[in-house]
Amino acid sequence: MSITEHAGAPVLVVDFGAQYAQLIARRVREAHVYSEIVAHSITADQVVARRPAGIILSGGPKSVNVPGAPVLDPAIYELGVPVLGICYGAQLIARQLGGTVDGDGNGEYGRTTLTVASDGPAPSVLLGAVPPSFDVWMSHFDAIVAPPAGFRTTASTAEAPVAAMEDPARAIYGVQFHPEVVHTHGGQEILKAFLYEVCGCRPSWTMTSVIEAATEAIRQQVGTERVICGLSGGVDSAVAAALVHKAVGPQLTCVFVDTGLLRAGEADQVEATFREQFNIDLVHVKAGDRFLGALDDIQDPERKRKIIGETFIRVFEEAASELGDARFLVQGTLYPDIIESGTKDAAKIKSHHNVGGLPDDMQFELVEPLRSLFKDEVRAVGEELGLPEEIVWRQPFPGPGLAVRIVGTVNAERVAILQAADAIVTEEIRRAGLYRELWQSFAVLPVVHTVGVMGDERTYAHPIIIRAVTSDDAMTADWARLPYEVLERLASRIINEVPGVNRVAYDITSKPPGTIEWE
Ligand code: XMP
Repeated sequence: MSITEHAGAPVLVVDFGAQYAQLIARRVREAHVYSEIVAHSITADQVVARRPAGIILSGGPKSVNVPGAPVLDPAIYELGVPVLGICYGAQLIARQLGGTVDGDGNGEYGRTTLTVASDGPAPSVLLGAVPPSFDVWMSHFDAIVAPPAGFRTTASTAEAPVAAMEDPARAIYGVQFHPEVVHTHGGQEILKAFLYEVCGCRPSWTMTSVIEAATEAIRQQVGTERVICGLSGGVDSAVAAALVHKAVGPQLTCVFVDTGLLRAGEADQVEATFREQFNIDLVHVKAGDRFLGALDDIQDPERKRKIIGETFIRVFEEAASELGDARFLVQGTLYPDIIESGTKDAAKIKSHHNVGGLPDDMQFELVEPLRSLFKDEVRAVGEELGLPEEIVWRQPFPGPGLAVRIVGTVNAERVAILQAADAIVTEEIRRAGLYRELWQSFAVLPVVHTVGVMGDERTYAHPIIIRAVTSDDAMTADWARLPYEVLERLASRIINEVPGVNRVAYDITSKPPGTIEWE
């Protein structure tokens, strides 16, 4: 049984605008119902094949009245599968089933008050658990002005005469507001009413059920064969390895390529967790000298990346070939990776792409136990499996490691300075309770010297730049408004405790125009 079969009938979230769809899918899963995102080009036959418990049409950036705006296969409305349209999805239902959507009104953006209709023959199942009037989050220009035949209006706002509508006989519902955002009071209750009351779902999607199903699926896939897993120290590969180990124990060997460009203590943590705590067969390849040798005198960031990537592949390949007979390779692919390549353009789906660009002649079959999970679910699985907090909640770290945080040429001394400064940043950010709030917080070492004075001595040493950003997806980021006390402690500790540093600066560049990393 696969992880998804175990979860019961899925709720399909039809994607009319990726960010809305992902948020809805996550909210459905928070209600312990398994959800999957599908492209809006899905046909009624494809829906039938998935045997969903319900369908949610997401919001989207377009107007339903614009020629070429995405639509749903109209036959889907006839399947008898419950449908909930949100924002664009609701307008689409109105338009496709014969109602009227008008773009001439005043749009609503942000918080507005919703009033539930009190004159219907029976209270709305969808709005049964919410008060008669409450705040919702709106973001629309068009509005439904007349619902289709057979629908009744169940709520309205100042600018949206039909803010909620339903045809319970056909189990088709639409809401103009966004129940999936936290600013909509009771939004989760509305989604739960749709899932439990309308679709008849049971709250069975829990991390325990995910782990059980994933281990069962892994056992079926790999049988008695050997499996290898590349560990990076990051959360995805760690959770994937722990899951595979739970499933097939000694059949798994983890390969940890220690590039020497990791954060302080990271290699020890991997040893302590995987070898000592989990008793996993671990090959720890200490390749620091090899990476530093390959990087000798290299200044250009893109060349650094390329050299590190190639060296990594070579080292991994050598370690893997020494293991000989492994047929399977674990990869920590997450659901958003699948959505990105899947729903936008089906042609882009790559089912057997190689990890980190491993050469084609390394023929492995991939094991991807996290491919239906969001990042927060991966963390929850990691916690449930007993992985340490430091790994489960570790901030993202670039593949080329500290080499792209040393602005200039890389050598052992500079790596040591940066590791020591970076460890202080992590320690103080954790102590201030900010570590999980920040997308990333780290130190950067530009290879320049500045003049300072310590004691009565003139110093001529490196500056350290502190970088701390908030972000949701690394595409954009803002510099974190760290409290002055935290910045003060960071500066004082780094200068006093790290030899070779005499100045600390804080980077207040957002992305764009900056990037998160310095190189
Ligand atoms: P930038 O610097 O482009 O970084 O704003 C965005 C996110 O990606 C990470 N990053 C990398 N990750 N290999 C990686 O695996 C890389 O070469 C690389 N460069 C940047 C960065 O840490 C941030 O989270």
